[in-house]
Amino acid sequence: MTEHVVRCLISAGPTREHLDPVRYISNPSSGKMGVSLAAAAVRAGWKVSLVVGPCEVPLPEGLEEAVRVTSSDEMYSALSERFDSADILIMSAAVSDMKPQSYVPHKVKKADIDFCVHFVPTVDILKTLSKRKAQGQFLVGFAAETDDVLNYAKKKLAEKNLDVVAANKVCGKRGGFGDSSNEMTLIFKDSDVKFLEYAKKDYIAEKMIGIFSEKFFHKKI
Ligand code: CTP
Repeated sequence: MTEHVVRCLISAGPTREHLDPVRYISNPSSGKMGVSLAAAAVRAGWKVSLVVGPCEVPLPEGLEEAVRVTSSDEMYSALSERFDSADILIMSAAVSDMKPQSYVPHKVKKADIDFCVHFVPTVDILKTLSKRKAQGQFLVGFAAETDDVLNYAKKKLAEKNLDVVAANKVCGKRGGFGDSSNEMTLIFKDSDVKFLEYAKKDYIAEKMIGIFSEKFFHKKI
């Protein structure tokens, strides 16, 4: 019998919500954590589809598919299309929580700018997809918080119907958006908690994929 290859869907990087073709709202996510996770998953022998927002990080070799998106709506469509055939979704993208209410399809001239921009919420991709979660499918969410990290993370675990939430404190430079290192607490649905000490994101990613492989797919790597 041939062994089942884990099909893994990963999101990474920021999204950009455009006001017009030359202006947008976004966040400083580098995409590094998600791309490191994708590389580690490829090394584990998983079939990896990566949906990635605008970022400079080079993508790893060996991906099944790399889909470049810009906005949260595009990210949602790309993930939604692929979600049902994935065994695991790792949602490490820093999706913008808001987008401008309207988009102007040409460059707005300085003299015509409306300085009171109205925003509307973007779709909560993880929460929406979690409602379609099938048995044997695993959802990994992230919670980057500045304070009360573990409590906020546990709230996200429950509210987004996750199997595990990867929580970290973002304050100052350490573990922040631009940092190439991170520390992480993994809080599982079954209350298991694993702490990964401050280390390079590549190393953290390797550890995370190893833990998920063992925990969800009962395979040591
Ligand atoms: N997320 C998502 N869709 C959004 C916002 C967030 O799928 N529109 C996902 C992120 O990729 C992450 C998790 O939800 O895996 C938590 O994101 P985070 O920004 O920490 O939390 P929010 O749900 O946006 O809540 P808050 O900003 O209030 O902390």
